[in-house]
Amino acid sequence: MSAVTPPPQTQNLVPALKDAPRTPDVTIVVPTYCERDNIEPLATRIEAMAHEAGLCAEVLLMDDKSNDGSIDVVATLDRPWLQMIEREGLRGLSPAVLDGMFQARAPRIVVMDADLSHPPEAIPAMLAEINDGADFVIGSRYVPGGATAEDWGFLRLVNSKAATLLSRPFTSARDPMAGFFAIRRDVFERAENLDPIGFKIGLELIVKCDCRDIREVPIHFAQRNAGESKLGIQEQLKYLLHLRRLAQHRWAVRTSAIQFGLVGGSGVVVNLAILTLALFFGAPTLLAVGLGLVISFLSNFALNTLITFNDAAPAPLSKRFIGYVGACGFGAILNFTTASIMLAVFPGISAQLAAIAGIAIGMSMNFIGCRFLVFKRS
Ligand code: GDD
Ligand code: MN
Repeated sequence: MSAVTPPPQTQNLVPALKDAPRTPDVTIVVPTYCERDNIEPLATRIEAMAHEAGLCAEVLLMDDKSNDGSIDVVATLDRPWLQMIEREGLRGLSPAVLDGMFQARAPRIVVMDADLSHPPEAIPAMLAEINDGADFVIGSRYVPGGATAEDWGFLRLVNSKAATLLSRPFTSARDPMAGFFAIRRDVFERAENLDPIGFKIGLELIVKCDCRDIREVPIHFAQRNAGESKLGIQEQLKYLLHLRRLAQHRWAVRTSAIQFGLVGGSGVVVNLAILTLALFFGAPTLLAVGLGLVISFLSNFALNTLITFNDAAPAPLSKRFIGYVGACGFGAILNFTTASIMLAVFPGISAQLAAIAGIAIGMSMNFIGCRFLVFKRS
């Protein structure tokens, strides 16, 4: 396991927190962007919850230059346990959350939204599960007892359900999309290759910190208190990219094998299309076949470079192409050899079947050559 390297902007601890007298029991990280009117009610409810549960909490409001007077509200409240950190550098919900988590002093970390969608009153129950050995605890809308505010529009509900469904391959948790969760700091610290793209930082942590024992505490997800949501269509597109990266992380070889197969399939289509087109314009058969082969070879190379193996260590394109020809040229020869052997050993077999066997063997060889020789991972 590699150690987590904090992003550069997180390396300076807030002095007031560093010198605070006692280590808090829990650090509550709250990403904020233009949440001025929510800060006071949030602080009040957290304070009441902590008081009732006998918890010493520190709250880090991770703000991305809201410039809406949020910082003045925090100053006016004047609570030593409540800090607003005005971030520099990479903006966004997930970077803000990670930034706060790296600065957490407590052994347990809770992440929640500022808009009071997430009830702070659920925190003691979530921490109880952490104390009981859970790696990751979700304040969940989708377990018995959980709920979503009635006036959530139909579209947003469908959206949320679809996104949850797409996360199934990674976790069986009912609500992995939630931005309300608790995690042990030592579990967080075992994260590998954190790559905070989009809104789904919880899912990122479940996968990258290899959380096994995931539990869910039901919550009532309330309608945002004041201001407006920042979740737009752009975030949803980013989610798809995020899923792909998570797949690459968890099933590195399998994911690239599937993409390689799809590119190979597109190559077959390109090949046949070019061949047919060349024949249509009266090219000799051999030239047509050759053209189809060369062009599909090039389109495969382009797509494999851009998509399948885009996680490869950098290398000059010319060098990579020569390697690709080396690796896949061998596959082509193997393809042809396999097909000929099939035809010789089983004289009655159809040429298509022999060719398919050749393609299968040739393509597997190509994949192995590409992944382990040409596009070695960094
Ligand atoms: N620092 C920072 N930077 N904070 C941000 C940014 C940003 O760029 N964008 C949003 N936030 C903060 C908001 O101020 C809020 O406290 C929290 O992140 C969530 O943002 P909302 O705009 O309230 O998101 P939402 O209500 O649409 O999304 C909620 O539901 C999703 C699941 O449906 C959040 O809980 C998400 O975390 C969750 O994935
Ligand atoms: Mn919200």
